Amino acid sequence: MHAEFNQNIFHLYNDKISYMIGILSNGHLGHLYFGKRLYGEFDLQAFRVNQDRPLTAYVEKDLSLGLERLEYPNYGTTDFREPAIDLIFESGSHIVDFKYKSHRIYRGKDPIALPQTFDAELTLEIKLEDKKGLELLLSYSMFKGLDVISKHVKLTNHSDESIRINRLLSTSIDLPDGDLEFMQFSGDWARERHIYKTPLNPGIHSVYSKRGASSAHHNPSAFLVRPETREFSGEAIGMALIYSGNFLAQAEVDANDILRFQCGIHPDYFQWTLDSGQSFQTPEAILTYSSEGLNYLSHQFHNLFNKHLINKKWQNSQKPVLINNWEATYFDFDEEKLVTLASEAYKLGIELFVLDDGWFGLRNDDTTGLGDWFVNREKLKNGIKGVRDQIKDMGMKFGIWIEPEMANLETKLLSEHPDFLIGDPTRDRSPGRNQYVLDYSRQEVVDHIYNQLILVLDDCPVDYIKWDMNRNITEAYSVCLENNRQGELFHRYILGVYDLYERLTSRYQDTLFESCASGGGRFDPALLYYAPQAWTSDNTDAVERLKIQYGTSMIYPLQTMGSHVSEVPNHQNRRQTSLEMRTHVAYFGTFGYELDITKLSEDEKNQIKAHTAFFKKHRTLIHQGDFYRLMSPFDGNDSGWMVVKDDQVLACWYRVLSQSNPGPSRFKLKGLKEASKYKMNDKVFTGSYLMNHGILLKQAFTGIEYSGDPSGDFQSRLFYLEEV
Ligand code: DGJ
Repeated sequence: MHAEFNQNIFHLYNDKISYMIGILSNGHLGHLYFGKRLYGEFDLQAFRVNQDRPLTAYVEKDLSLGLERLEYPNYGTTDFREPAIDLIFESGSHIVDFKYKSHRIYRGKDPIALPQTFDAELTLEIKLEDKKGLELLLSYSMFKGLDVISKHVKLTNHSDESIRINRLLSTSIDLPDGDLEFMQFSGDWARERHIYKTPLNPGIHSVYSKRGASSAHHNPSAFLVRPETREFSGEAIGMALIYSGNFLAQAEVDANDILRFQCGIHPDYFQWTLDSGQSFQTPEAILTYSSEGLNYLSHQFHNLFNKHLINKKWQNSQKPVLINNWEATYFDFDEEKLVTLASEAYKLGIELFVLDDGWFGLRNDDTTGLGDWFVNREKLKNGIKGVRDQIKDMGMKFGIWIEPEMANLETKLLSEHPDFLIGDPTRDRSPGRNQYVLDYSRQEVVDHIYNQLILVLDDCPVDYIKWDMNRNITEAYSVCLENNRQGELFHRYILGVYDLYERLTSRYQDTLFESCASGGGRFDPALLYYAPQAWTSDNTDAVERLKIQYGTSMIYPLQTMGSHVSEVPNHQNRRQTSLEMRTHVAYFGTFGYELDITKLSEDEKNQIKAHTAFFKKHRTLIHQGDFYRLMSPFDGNDSGWMVVKDDQVLACWYRVLSQSNPGPSRFKLKGLKEASKYKMNDKVFTGSYLMNHGILLKQAFTGIEYSGDPSGDFQSRLFYLEEV
């Protein structure tokens, strides 16, 4: 891991990657290179295309910024592509001209006031200045053993006037060609993070959120991949933003086939007034490069998040097998019902009982109660403490659900503080799930909710909190922001969310947090900083989960993905799948249950006992091992994935619809040692056989009788191997 400065070129590199920035003759920064490691001495001119073009404006002889590859493009220059920064001065001028001033290279990484990576090995900080008294600090960090560059930007106003920020992105790089496809992770409620790929042409392709949350619709991440790139071959660049609010991730191909790849806070509906002496800090963006395909890129994200983003306390902790009462009871429960569920679950080896929505206020359905964070004594005569104490006495952990950013109209909270909601009081507010969004841009609103929650949580300490968020922000207006600061609302809202997360996680350091937003509607890197688990999707159907978990794994590690076995017919789509397949899908995540366990047959209970024991035995392998995607559920009927850690391997093959006489299939593994021997049940195979020939899956029915192997629709086969 190195950072060097020679001949006006900054070179950040390790054994595998190089990231290069040059100081152009007018002081602006050029983006010279990001990709496979470059060796040797470098000359800036060797990276520049320096040709006269008609209709081109020149800053100086031989320098038109529009023909350069730039590192942090300014608005108002000879570059007409999308800028990284756009400001307005009091005069109304948007013109900025940031030039190199100085730099510093130091060990580690200075913290910022936002969710962030930590324990970086090295940071390069480049200071740029605009002559009107503005300073830009561009920071680049690298981490030991990772092919990752993390970037963020800080703008400081040293002038006497207030300026307004319209756009201040976290990263912008210009790549030398546009022969790339844009890979995005998009969807909606119950079909989060499906994979889409689009070839790029001149123009712009983007994903974004303007909903006030990172969203189920687009994840704040994107890959650029060569048309020939596959899981284990080809070039790919990954980008992810450590942020939970409105974002933009975009690729712009210009007329010369140069590709600008950017991300940051979405500039639409964002405007920030920066008074004299103030600074604005962008969220951190992650860039990673692979010449060995997508799986390698995912390993970079997984390792970065597992070691440098998730709180150290939880990085290697044993994630408890949980049972959540939501799909078992919805709002209809009392103390007896909950304790019965818990005691049955405990007998089957389940370790944590989660009491979901409905324990507070007058909450009997989703029309009332949100915002009133005091216990519903009509339902729970001895409070949640009564339930908790019985569950803890059994030897189980106990957790609860909260949704602190929202309120129903019929609540004590809103009867006392009707102005706490986001919205324009002279217009209607649109309900979503019968609820409204609290104005977290206001400190007193966050404080009020915090004070309510700590009364409950101090009285009844819990082992786990599921923090839900079930609607997006409409009619975005804050009664407390000045008229020229309304553009700050979305970002201030998210800062309020982070503030509450910060305070609750520091006060309850032994409590495990799981984030949730109607399933995976805010599954982003920033929330992993506070909540090491995220509820991946409300969709618990094993078949649809294959795509959701596969897509999610592109960026996020298995130990962050909430995955539960639920009942059949499935509540979201009425599909019937076997308990075995549901379990085999849920194993590749945090693992838990969400069903009425008291209604199961003895046979099913015995199976669950074996499943929880199996998971507990192998959870370190699953959560700390290297994950390999083997066959994509987006490509066909069969799919598969696996984890490897030291001498242990767990792989699973899935077939959605059965076929008659399909012929044998082969299931090829990855990440093993070629010459080593691996034992599977009583058979031994070499790594090379398992990876190059593959496990032979014989067909279940040969015309005379069934072999006993899985057959029918929705099959799965789990393989555990140990190196011998
Ligand atoms: C949406 C979540 O995704 C569900 O798991 C559940 O917690 C409900 N909200 C409760 O209202």
